[in-house]
Amino acid sequence: MAQLWGGRFTKETDQLVYKFNASIEFDKRLLAQDIQGSIAHVIMLCRQGILTDEEMNSILNGLQSIQQDVKDGKLVIDTRYEDVHSFVEANLIDRIGDAGKKLHTGRSRNDQVALDMRLYTRLQVIVVDELLKELLETILKTMEENVDTYMPGFTHLQKAQPTTLAHHFGAYFEMFKRDRLRMKDILVRMNYCPLGAGAMAGTTYPLDRELTADLMGFYGPTLNSMDSVADRDYLIEFLSALSTVMMHLSRFSEEIIIWNSNEYQFVEIDDAYSTGSSIMPQKKNPDIAELVRGKTGRVYGALMSLLTTMKGLPLAYNKDMQEDKEVAFDAFDTVKDCLGLFNGMIATLKFKKDRMAESAMNGFTNATDAADYLVGKGVPFRDAHGIIGQLVLYCIDKNTSIDKLSLEELKSIHPVFEEDIFDAVSLKTCVEKRLTIGAPGREAMEKVIALHREYLAKEEDYLPGSENYNIVTEEPDTPAPGWWQQI
Ligand code: ARG
Repeated sequence: MAQLWGGRFTKETDQLVYKFNASIEFDKRLLAQDIQGSIAHVIMLCRQGILTDEEMNSILNGLQSIQQDVKDGKLVIDTRYEDVHSFVEANLIDRIGDAGKKLHTGRSRNDQVALDMRLYTRLQVIVVDELLKELLETILKTMEENVDTYMPGFTHLQKAQPTTLAHHFGAYFEMFKRDRLRMKDILVRMNYCPLGAGAMAGTTYPLDRELTADLMGFYGPTLNSMDSVADRDYLIEFLSALSTVMMHLSRFSEEIIIWNSNEYQFVEIDDAYSTGSSIMPQKKNPDIAELVRGKTGRVYGALMSLLTTMKGLPLAYNKDMQEDKEVAFDAFDTVKDCLGLFNGMIATLKFKKDRMAESAMNGFTNATDAADYLVGKGVPFRDAHGIIGQLVLYCIDKNTSIDKLSLEELKSIHPVFEEDIFDAVSLKTCVEKRLTIGAPGREAMEKVIALHREYLAKEEDYLPGSENYNIVTEEPDTPAPGWWQQI
C-alpha cells in the first residue's frame, strides 16, 4: 500500500477501509489525462521559477516513460496504489528520485482529479459528437434514397396519414442534430481549467493558471477555487444530454422492433445484427434494438445517481464525489457502444417498400385528404369531417377502402363527389400535396434534405488528431487572452 498522506498517521489503514476508499480500479482509465495535466503543471512551475529546467526535464521524461511502459504492458496499474494520481507520483519518484517529489508543488489531488475528469469528459463529448455525426450521415442517406417510399404515419400507434420513409427518418435527423448542438453547448460551458485551485483556496505559489489552461486547450482558468474542486455540473449536463441521446435511440429502437414484427414486416434486420432463439428455429430477433432500448435505463440511472450524490454536498471537495466515476464511465461506454451498433443496424436495414406502401393504403390514411377534397368543392371543413366519417363507416361495413368505392356509392353519401376524387385520395397525391415546410411532399422534403447536407458538410471534425481538436470552438463573448486578469 503506497499512500501519499502517511506522515500524519501512526497506524496502518485497515485493509477493508483501504479497499473501500481506493479508486484505482476505476480511475486508472484517467492515466493519460493525469499525465497530460502533470506535464502542463510542471512546464508552468518551471516557467515560474519554481522548478529548474533540469528538474522539469527529468519529470517530463519520467512521466513519458511511465505512460509508455503502461502502454507496452511493462508497468501495470495495480491496487497497491490508492488512485491513479498516487500511482503516477509513486512511480515517478521510483524512477527519478527527489525531483519527482516536487511534481505536486502547488497542487492538490482535489484540483488534479477535477482536471483529469474534465479532460476525460471533454474527450468523450467530442467522441459522442462524432458518433452522432456518423449516425446523421446514415439517416440522411436513407432519407435521400427514400423520398418516394410511401408508408403510413401514426398517431396513437394507429394509422393516421400517409407519409414517406424519408420524412419518418427526418424526424430522427432533427433529434440527433439537437443532440449534437447540446454537445457543443456543453463543451463551450465546461472548457475552463480547474488546475491551480489547490485543495480549495488556491495556493501561495505564484502559479500561472492561464498558462496551464492554455497548454491544455482550455479557454482560461476557472474563477473560483472552491467551485473549481466542487463542480461536477458539466458531468451532470453531459449525462443529461446522453440520457436524451438514449431516449432518442430507444424510441427509434422501439420502432425498428415494431416494424420488424411479423405483423408489420416493414423492415428486415440484417443477419449480422440479429440473433436467433435456442428453441424456436424460425426466430430472428431484434436483440440489438432491444438492448439499446434496455440500456437506456443505465444511462438515466447514472444521471440520477450523480444528481443525488451531489445534492447535499457542502463546499468544497468531499469524497462522495469519487462516486462520479463508475457511473459516468459506464454511461460513456454504453452510449458509445449503442450509437455505433445502432448506426450499423440502420445502415444495413432492408426496407420492404411494397409492404409499407400497401399498409399506407389500408387503414383510411387518406381520410383527411378526402375531407380536404370536399372542402375544395365548397363544403365547410366541419361538415366534410362528418361526411367522411360516415364514408369510413360505410367502408368498414363493406370491408373496403375509400379509393375502391364506385362513384355512385360516393355520390350516394354526398353529391359533390366527382371522378377526380380518385386522384385526390391516391397515395401519391396525399403525400405529394403536402408541401408546407417540414412536410413529406417531394419538393418540401428535397429542400430539407439539401439543408441537412449543407449542415453535415460544414461541420468541423473534433476527433483527436484532427486539425480542430482542442480548438473545440470559439469562446462566446470573451475578450482576448488575459481577460480574466482585468476583472
Ligand atoms: N480519488 C479521488 C476522487 O476521485 C481523488 C481525490 C482525492 N482527494 C482527497 N482529498 N482525498 O475524487
